[in-house]
Amino acid sequence: MSDEVYDGWAREWLELEARAPELQPLSPFQWVSSQPSESFPTRIHRIPMLSLSNVYSLEELREWDAGLQKLLGTSQIDYTCELKIDGLAVSVIYEEGQLRVGVTRGDGTQGDEVTANLKTVRSLPHTLPEAISLEVRGEVYLARQDFDELNRRRAASGEPAFKNPRNAAAGSLRLLDSREVHRRRLSLFLYNQVDGPLESTHSASLKRLEDWGLPTNPEARRVSSIEDVAAFCAHWEAHHSELPYDIDGVVIKVDSLRMQEQVGFTAKSPRWAVAFKFTAEQAVTVLRAVELGVGRTGVLTPVAILDPVELNGTLVSRATLHNFDQVSRFDLHLGDTVTLEKGGEIIPKVVAVDAAQRAPEALALQPPAFCPVCDTRTVQEVGEVDWRCPNVQCPEQQQERVLHFVSRKAMDIDAVGPALVAQLFAHRLIANAADLYRLEVEALAQLERMGTKSAKNVMESIERSRTRPLGAFLHALGIPHVGEKTARVLARRMGSLEAIREASSEELAEIGEIGGVIAESIVRFFQDPEQQRLIEQLLAHGVTPVQQEVAGQKIAELEGKTVVITGTLSEPRDVWKQRLEEAGASVTGSVSRKTDFLLAGNNAGSKLEKARKLGVSLLDEATLRQWMGAEAQE
Ligand code: IVH
Repeated sequence: MSDEVYDGWAREWLELEARAPELQPLSPFQWVSSQPSESFPTRIHRIPMLSLSNVYSLEELREWDAGLQKLLGTSQIDYTCELKIDGLAVSVIYEEGQLRVGVTRGDGTQGDEVTANLKTVRSLPHTLPEAISLEVRGEVYLARQDFDELNRRRAASGEPAFKNPRNAAAGSLRLLDSREVHRRRLSLFLYNQVDGPLESTHSASLKRLEDWGLPTNPEARRVSSIEDVAAFCAHWEAHHSELPYDIDGVVIKVDSLRMQEQVGFTAKSPRWAVAFKFTAEQAVTVLRAVELGVGRTGVLTPVAILDPVELNGTLVSRATLHNFDQVSRFDLHLGDTVTLEKGGEIIPKVVAVDAAQRAPEALALQPPAFCPVCDTRTVQEVGEVDWRCPNVQCPEQQQERVLHFVSRKAMDIDAVGPALVAQLFAHRLIANAADLYRLEVEALAQLERMGTKSAKNVMESIERSRTRPLGAFLHALGIPHVGEKTARVLARRMGSLEAIREASSEELAEIGEIGGVIAESIVRFFQDPEQQRLIEQLLAHGVTPVQQEVAGQKIAELEGKTVVITGTLSEPRDVWKQRLEEAGASVTGSVSRKTDFLLAGNNAGSKLEKARKLGVSLLDEATLRQWMGAEAQE
């Protein structure tokens, strides 16, 4: 559904909740929240980070203004109008002029402490000109140009593209490797100061932030009537695609801080501010054909081919239909008049079909009976929505599998990107991943846009991958249900490829993180003659995945023990998790009778309570560092 429909329902629900408070425990708003990640220390917001209520028309905007006039007993209210940046909210804390902490919004009460990542924002000063302390909030985002550049890099290394700049910014802020974050060029606009020396109006506070060298948005304007607010909204609704970054509306704030205080807050948002949301732009066009994409696992994805139409300033002739369930839900026919929407993603989607305009003889779209590439009869497994080509030899699948094989988190063969893989297949230089290791410089150098130098480069990149860690190798094989993380666990716990190939599903399922479905999928994969042949070929060509030596020694106190981590620690949780696992412990998510230790940091909450009740031993970082010796010293 579109954002507007969603917000409409959400609003109706909240109104119903207000009338029936006894139903509130059932409310989706109680359980839908963005959980802070496990990897960063959690930090509680001293002042909660609220959201804004939305209006969708100038009429609703005027109603909001009328309500405020009544509350304040005056018709003279000045407003600040700002762009609503489509990124994610963060809070930044300076102490005595030094940038100390950066936190994501999280669920509004607590977020992830991502200071190192925020420090990569080039416009954010680490030191202020005066030794002042303040907390400011703003929006982290990726400019369109930086987003395109990031996706180009990802395509080149075979990684999936981000759907939109906001997702890319959110994903980047959560990376553990700040050098990669730096490369992605995150940007920031600060829009609200919540602590520290304040002026008497919001616009003056913004000006002061700017004087301190902090990044604020240059388009903010102070106006003195709701009609000027409406003009600002109308202007940006028409012109926002000209900005170098995405916005999804305008935020209007009462300018006087005294008035803000007077009107105060509701439970979820301030009464003194509102978001004017732009209507998602739509376009109507005609569906001419459906193209099928074939993925690495044979999944067939329908793509609508359309009469070109302009949407958000670009000419669109393709739209995603997601899967055939969606096609049958819309009861799509060839020649149908369809409505498209951008919905925050680069590839537009079909959101509605006008059945009334359908010609009586129009053909209904059916799931394909045969693979468009290799003509094998398609299958739909019980309980799955996707239709698949079951032929593992299907050339398109082979190609997609090789792309997965070379990608960064798999074999990391960075000199082999999508264009080269396509060339290699087209010239029949390879038919599968193992063939990469038989390539020769001479043959490669014959390819278009490739000289001896690049060919050597490619060969070196392939050569380096022969000794990738076992986990990365397992991930590269593309075992169904085994992602990058499971592959690593499998490698660490089983130690060698041989052990994994010989393991029964019962043995595999004994590994904490691996359930029955995954275990069976692994066994089935290694029993498949096709896969066996591929693995034999890889080994014969000298691929020797290495099980990284477990860093440090197994530690007697921890070996075979179960540990739970909670609270704010001085290092990311992932780091502790890895160290603990390397020391022979297994790390689980919740405290139970089986838990041996709780590693508790600051602000440990319910897990600490439960551990105390069950008599679970507590550990702190200092003790662990002592046990682990020099390895875990900071
Ligand atoms: S003010 C207490 N100003 O919109 C309210 N928010 O829907 C503080 N946003 O979570 C928010 N641009 O992530 C404000 N100029 C702006 C904004 C803005 C984007 C985001 C922010 C917030 C969300 C609310």
